[in-house]
Amino acid sequence: MRTKFLFNIILAVTAVIVFGCEKKNTATAQESEVKEKKEMSITKETFGKMPDGQEITLYTLTNPNGIKAKIMNYGATLVSLETPDRDGKVTDITLGFDTLDGYLTEHPYFGVIVGRYANRIGKGRFMLDGVEYKLATNNGPNHLHGGIKGFDKVVWKVDDVKANDDTAAVKLSYLSKNGEEGYPGNLTCSVIYTLTKDNKLRIDYEAKTDKTTVVNMTNHAYWNLAGQGSGDILGHELMLNADKYTPVDEGLIPTGEIKDVKDSPMDFTKPMTIGSRIDQVTGGYDHNYVLNSGGGKLALAARVYEPTTGRVMEIYTTEPGIQFYSGNFLDGSITGKSGKVYKKHYGFCLETQHFPDSPNKPKFPSVVLKPGEKYTTVTVHKFSTK
Ligand code: BGC
Repeated sequence: MRTKFLFNIILAVTAVIVFGCEKKNTATAQESEVKEKKEMSITKETFGKMPDGQEITLYTLTNPNGIKAKIMNYGATLVSLETPDRDGKVTDITLGFDTLDGYLTEHPYFGVIVGRYANRIGKGRFMLDGVEYKLATNNGPNHLHGGIKGFDKVVWKVDDVKANDDTAAVKLSYLSKNGEEGYPGNLTCSVIYTLTKDNKLRIDYEAKTDKTTVVNMTNHAYWNLAGQGSGDILGHELMLNADKYTPVDEGLIPTGEIKDVKDSPMDFTKPMTIGSRIDQVTGGYDHNYVLNSGGGKLALAARVYEPTTGRVMEIYTTEPGIQFYSGNFLDGSITGKSGKVYKKHYGFCLETQHFPDSPNKPKFPSVVLKPGEKYTTVTVHKFSTK
């Protein structure tokens, strides 16, 4: 496996280098520049070392239109995503850190893959096949984002790195052992990040188990389409393809009710700025929306437009829900990339997911995965300008 992985990396990196060299021999410098820009490419570099000396690698996926996605294998994290604005000016639109050390400090899940169960499980307990499982509690009495050491805090294995004419992709995998953070079953999971020539970042999630368990994985990127650290996101216009949401109690655990957004500040069925009614929502937005698609097929979940730069991000997903979090707990205590201080509402998250606390809510779509079954979900972020 390890040999195969090393081989793939060497192949990918060599492809980029060799391809470039060949062109210089057969074309003028100017022509080769133009040709190079038309290609998908992947480069890799060392991002830092874990306290035990393990090296962490940063992969840069580039497309011909100036989009760059950087992914590292610690936490299978999306470290940055650069896109052009309407004038072609390229900026990083995700919050995070310049170095691995930043990610090793306590932070609110910048860009990471969250698992085994994204979002909250009330009291960190649930019943499965007549057995009560007790999970690590790390959010008051509740379990949040996989527990104390979730998928965001482990080193993932790099299985495959490859680029072709239309895509550049990195596949990462992780074995979450039976009993980890209290979950039953050895869960083998993988995440593939694919950048496409037509300006999409696609994330494919897969998992298999050897014992009945619960799974709900997502990516926890914080977005600011005007550029990371540039200010708050209250002027972004948001559309959510959801007529309903799941109201929560004071601990942010769904009450079980599925409520219409109509005639309330929760309604984003028509584009509205995030800030227009945020004062009417206690604590700010931190809610799971019930997508109109019902899940199961790739469908439009959200569209965000940032008027000053013209950037547009659309999110398509096979998941039935999306957590809209308006960065309420950012408080200026974290200094991120390029020395930018992340204050309240400086980023927002749109986490595609199954509903929070589903293991305790029989009426919510099931998150149970049984041996022999395959968990597969897809989320696509599409970038453009207007
Ligand atoms: C949750 C928030 C939480 C944030 C960072 C979001 O997914 O909904 O309540 O504060 O993650 O942990």
